[in-house]
Amino acid sequence: MVKVLITGGTGLLGKALVETNRKAAISSIYLGAYDMANDRKSAYYKTDICDKDAMDEVFSKAEPQVVIHTAGIANVDYCEKNYKEAYESNVIGTGIIVDLARKTGAKIVFISTNAVFDGRSAPYSENSVTSPINSYGKMKLEAEEMVRDSGLKNLIIRPILMYGWNHEQERVNAVTWLIEKLKKGEKVNMVNDVYENPLFNISCAEIIWSLIDSGKEGIYHLAGRDMVNRYEFARMIADVFDLDKKLISQVSSGFFPGLAPRPRNTSYDTSKIEKDLGLKPAGLKEGLEIMKGMRR
Ligand SMILES: NC(=O)c1ccc[n+]([C@@H]2O[C@H](COP(=O)([O-])OP(=O)(O)OC[C@H]3O[C@@H](n4cnc5c(N)ncnc54)[C@H](OP(=O)(O)O)[C@@H]3O)[C@@H](O)[C@H]2O)c1
Repeated sequence: MVKVLITGGTGLLGKALVETNRKAAISSIYLGAYDMANDRKSAYYKTDICDKDAMDEVFSKAEPQVVIHTAGIANVDYCEKNYKEAYESNVIGTGIIVDLARKTGAKIVFISTNAVFDGRSAPYSENSVTSPINSYGKMKLEAEEMVRDSGLKNLIIRPILMYGWNHEQERVNAVTWLIEKLKKGEKVNMVNDVYENPLFNISCAEIIWSLIDSGKEGIYHLAGRDMVNRYEFARMIADVFDLDKKLISQVSSGFFPGLAPRPRNTSYDTSKIEKDLGLKPAGLKEGLEIMKGMRR
């Protein structure tokens, strides 16, 4: 039985890791508020990852062999405007976790991002040169380097834009945000010049468990099969969730001048994960339909 500590257990990915882990039957300990009433194999702690003493206590209780570190401030615009707070969470917090993992010899699974790339030479493979263009991407790259240089066994996972049912009190994502807007009959402007291959949070979590189970190390890019811009993505969401497509207009990125710079195309080459785990990434329509069939 492997003891796993998941940081950010209430976030979009953390929640999916918790849910899919029930199927995988691995004993886990989650960091973050989560209703554990029906899960006797697990415990949770509501702790700030930047509080070194409190985290030390969590590690002593949990004795993790694997730490899946998803916690952090992942809102790109918030990171740009609140640099100090975001740096604490994304970089200092990761440093604390690396130090504690070193004490216990735990393997670190660090969740990074496609924002480590500048978006000028897609598709990006694990060997591509990193060159982040916003504060969030720079912080995540610094945290990646800490993990890589830690001397610990490590996996660095770079998921691309994720969607799925978020915890009600947590951050919305491209799909849940759009559903809320269109249900209220509000018009939305979606950019047609930023491309990604959106990834269903449950698929991402399942692949992470498989990578852990098979003892893999190193960098992995995880993405869905289909590359779309945000406008095309929105139209597909409206189609699948039976919402009014006429409320969606297309604009270019210049329409939102106050936002942090976004790389234009960070779509991935996913051949490494396909070869190493023998799987094909799921399509966007397929992921959205599975999401529609799931309860929040
Ligand atoms: N979502 C995406 O599209 C995407 C794409 C690429 C990479 N990623 C990466 O994937 C990871 C997970 O993203 P996500 O979308 O699941 O994030 P999310 O939904 O915003 O959740 C973030 C989680 O981190 C926790 N957290 C933040 N600061 C914390 C702190 N100081 N101490 C303890 N917990 C803290 C939050 O808990 P509280 O709410 O209680 O603070 C929450 O549980 C992140 O590292 C992100 O960089 C995300």
